[in-house]
Amino acid sequence: MISYKELGLVNTKELFAKAMKGGYAIPAYNFNNMEQLQAIITACVETRSPVILQVSSGARKYANSTLLRYMAQGAVALAKDLGYPIPIVLHLDHGDSFELCKSCVETGFSSVMIDGSHLPYEENIALTKKVVDFAHQYDVTVEGELGVLAGIEDEVSAEKSHYTKPEEVEDFVAKTGVDSLAISIGTSHGATKFKPEQCTRTPDGVLIPPPLRFDILEEIEKKLPGFPIVLHGSSSVPIEYVRMINQYGGNIKDAVGIPEEQLRRAARSAVCKINIDSDGRLAMTAMIRKVLAEKPSEFDPRKYLGPARDALKELYKHKNIHVLGSANQA
Ligand code: G3H
Ligand code: 13P
Ligand code: ZN
Repeated sequence: MISYKELGLVNTKELFAKAMKGGYAIPAYNFNNMEQLQAIITACVETRSPVILQVSSGARKYANSTLLRYMAQGAVALAKDLGYPIPIVLHLDHGDSFELCKSCVETGFSSVMIDGSHLPYEENIALTKKVVDFAHQYDVTVEGELGVLAGIEDEVSAEKSHYTKPEEVEDFVAKTGVDSLAISIGTSHGATKFKPEQCTRTPDGVLIPPPLRFDILEEIEKKLPGFPIVLHGSSSVPIEYVRMINQYGGNIKDAVGIPEEQLRRAARSAVCKINIDSDGRLAMTAMIRKVLAEKPSEFDPRKYLGPARDALKELYKHKNIHVLGSANQA
């Protein structure tokens, strides 16, 4: 058993309590490799923001779970080296089984998500409670989910979204004992969050998505006063990066994300954790494509991964300061 406490990590409890009081959200950024991790940590140290490092089961397969854990431990040391030891959470994103969550609890994760959102209600409760009962023995916090996001839920494809039913949330939280709840109010995973026919289009071709269902969020807040809510699928899909990718040989069609002002509004509410992965993928891919297109003889990975890392860092700083409001909260 490796406790996250030995690694210098923290769980989400205190961070969410402060975020709730302060009207901001903690960034939850996914990482799979060194450059992403460096960008997240330097951005969060420079903006004095707490951070949740998210690892999906796909990331564990890609990078190796042991290596990722050492990288998270390294992130704690890096923040100290940079002169400002921010609180860092190591979180399992979209855990799909008790066994996976247990393995993460036993190998240094400070927080896990058990995603039973695709299961029948009672089965979601039973699975989530089993994970909570195990994780809480080790002071590891647990995120559950009610409602299904449109788009790709990790490896589970959700064709249509099903908004969270406010009448279920109190019962779910009481029966499972979860520390936070991910809800579905119109966000969606990936870079193509909505079909073009669901959006309006500006004269220069930019898609404007339908607004988030803040009415559902407000009803949920009334049922669960002061309880931490999580938003998945919250990338804004910056048009400049989509255009850069397409300009340099890529082909991303109908990309559309969640507008920043809606995320800012959510962050001021009971939403304490906002998940962002796709935006980092877009920024990185755009910069790599640009450098390789402009310098075709370049073959030193540092020469294209370095600029990609710089772009990522700026993206995360922007989010902490202008979208989530987590800057200066560490
Ligand atoms: O919500 C899913 C995250 O963006 C992780 O994606 O399973 O491709 O690592 P992944
Ligand atoms: P995006 O695809 O919008 O970045 O969402 C990421 C996410 O929810 C990770 O769990
Ligand atoms: Zn997600």
